[in-house]
Amino acid sequence: MTSVSAQHARVLSGMRPTGRLHLGHYHGVLKNWLELQHEFECYFFVADWHALTTHYEDPTLIPDSIREMLIDWLAAGINPGSATLFIQSRVPEHAELHLLLSMITPVGWLERVPTYKDQQDRLKEKDLATYGFLGYPLLQSADILIYKAGRVPVGEDQVAHVELTREIARRFNHIYGREPGFEAKAEEAKRKMGKKNARQFDELRRAYQERGDAQALAVARAMLGGQNNLTVADRERLFGFLEGGGRVILPEPIPLLTKASKMPGLDGQKMSKSYGNTIALRDEPADVEKAIRTMPTDPARVRRTDPGDPDKCPVWQFHLIYSTDAVRDWVQGGCRSAGIGCLDCKGPVIESVLTELAPMRERVREFSTQPDLLRNLINDGCERARAVARETMEEVRFAMSLVL
Ligand code: TRP
Ligand code: SF4
Repeated sequence: MTSVSAQHARVLSGMRPTGRLHLGHYHGVLKNWLELQHEFECYFFVADWHALTTHYEDPTLIPDSIREMLIDWLAAGINPGSATLFIQSRVPEHAELHLLLSMITPVGWLERVPTYKDQQDRLKEKDLATYGFLGYPLLQSADILIYKAGRVPVGEDQVAHVELTREIARRFNHIYGREPGFEAKAEEAKRKMGKKNARQFDELRRAYQERGDAQALAVARAMLGGQNNLTVADRERLFGFLEGGGRVILPEPIPLLTKASKMPGLDGQKMSKSYGNTIALRDEPADVEKAIRTMPTDPARVRRTDPGDPDKCPVWQFHLIYSTDAVRDWVQGGCRSAGIGCLDCKGPVIESVLTELAPMRERVREFSTQPDLLRNLINDGCERARAVARETMEEVRFAMSLVL
């Protein structure tokens, strides 16, 4: 059994299959994963079922998207020797846990998740009034809890889902985390306090558990503390009984907020496929060079002799990511005095991006030309993930009396 403390060393994160990744993904998410994989026991997975919650009508592109994204993870340096890489749908235990958690999840909790209404509004052209779409944050909870992950790196928009996961875990442990015969033992301990006290304890417990009455909790605690005829074990049972605690079967995860990527797109907006302003990790050098050479610059620099202002130029944002102080000084001076041209200025950026991408493109080639390599590595990751998921499900089924 995985101990609760082991969870602190475990990291889990997932990405929807979006196909080829770009520099925005690399500087935002992937570099973060690269660091985590050295420090923690990491599980990184492709959330293909999550893709179906919004793209159920056109799933045909998903398999290629999965493959290309996995190749890009590996190209970026995610190491299958230190991190476990897998595909959600290949570990069907996620679906079983999702189903079982759905039994204890109030519909209101899901309707109140902020992404629910937001996404429905944003993707108006799709009919997202589906059961799967409403339940997708709970599927995410199952993804996390089935590995008893302690830390979940996510972007700002996903923090609410990790919070929901914490509430689900708390509720699950509250309902099913009792030692065998816990209720009966607690009831028996309660009777040892005498009829009158027992009745008062019941009232206080109900006030706390049903209405969150903190005052009632304090009174009940003081009452338990003052009982001389209780053994230590009985007193601890009653404390657990009072607060609705029990054994922790599914530990609560903590979100690790991933800072938004500073990587701008070629036009200075956020780099995103939907804006068509990306540099993909596997773009050919000639295309990368052309894309940067044709990037817009400070609109005030119409002629080579017009001075410019780096603060108004997307190329400067690239220098902030890639260039040394010396190069940046050269840009600042040269731009403002019209001492350098924009093409001169873009030279070091082109160099840096090409240098960063060269080893990635090499690894993409390796994995693209040897499909067995990827297949074996993913089979292996899915098996490793599945072994952990199976173990958790044994505990969950037992806790929910699903035993023969
Ligand atoms: N919902 C996440 C996204 O859209 C992907 C995801 C699915 C995930 N399951 C997860 C992220 C579990 C972290 C943990 O980006
Ligand atoms: Fe932008 Fe550089 Fe041209 Fe200045 S010189 S406008 S920073 S590309």
